[in-house]
Amino acid sequence: MYRISIVVVVSGGAEQCRTVEKHRTLQNRTGRSQDPQVESLQIQGKIESHSPEKYKDVFVRSKHSLPDLPYEYKALEPIISSEIMELHHSKHHATYVNNLNIAEEKMREAVAKGDVNTQIALGPAIKFNGGGHINHSIFWCNLSPHGGNPDAALSKLINKDFGSMEEMKKSLSQITVAIQGSGWGWLGYDQKTKSLRIATCANQDPLQSTTGLIPLFGIDVWEHAYYLQYKNVRPVYVEAIFDIINWKDVNARFKNATGC
Ligand SMILES: [Fe+2]
Repeated sequence: MYRISIVVVVSGGAEQCRTVEKHRTLQNRTGRSQDPQVESLQIQGKIESHSPEKYKDVFVRSKHSLPDLPYEYKALEPIISSEIMELHHSKHHATYVNNLNIAEEKMREAVAKGDVNTQIALGPAIKFNGGGHINHSIFWCNLSPHGGNPDAALSKLINKDFGSMEEMKKSLSQITVAIQGSGWGWLGYDQKTKSLRIATCANQDPLQSTTGLIPLFGIDVWEHAYYLQYKNVRPVYVEAIFDIINWKDVNARFKNATGC
């Protein structure tokens, strides 16, 4: 097996979140990742990758890895406690990554055997754990104790589509607080209509794969994200999280989504 390293730039901007996929390897003849988010970035030419010509005909395996946080666990206090951040990142996100790797390995074996039944049966596990990995990788970068402000282009579209920043926050908060059970609230960009939209996803369904919207900012309302600190009062957690939005990251995602 030939191994190469790829540095995946998950977001742009001054405060870039970087996921270093150590030992990530080419997955097919095109060199494209099977991770939809990574593939999207590859297509856009936003990934620094090293794909030596000699590897072009080599089929090799890949492993996902838990990305480092771009700040310390205590950095988001008092909005989100260090205890929550450590458990959320090192236990919950890590479990999604581990289970995604297990499911993908089983998928590779099933594909190799031509076992279509097993491939179909593995779909939900890949959706759940792959979604968990994608969603949390975005979430960590969406937050910062020093997140700056929305840039002019994003502010202009927020005002156009929602009336004002406060109205956008109000709409996103309402729809997110109202999620039944576990899920995510999102501010996303619709490339077809060139507009901003808010949406919710159940469980760990990833926004882009299930709605076509490009994720800009997400709010995790699984209880593991807030219960130790906010108990059952989800609305207070959702209201508070707007104070730690990393607008530098959201600006960069918006810029990538719009191509401007
Ligand atoms: Fe979570």
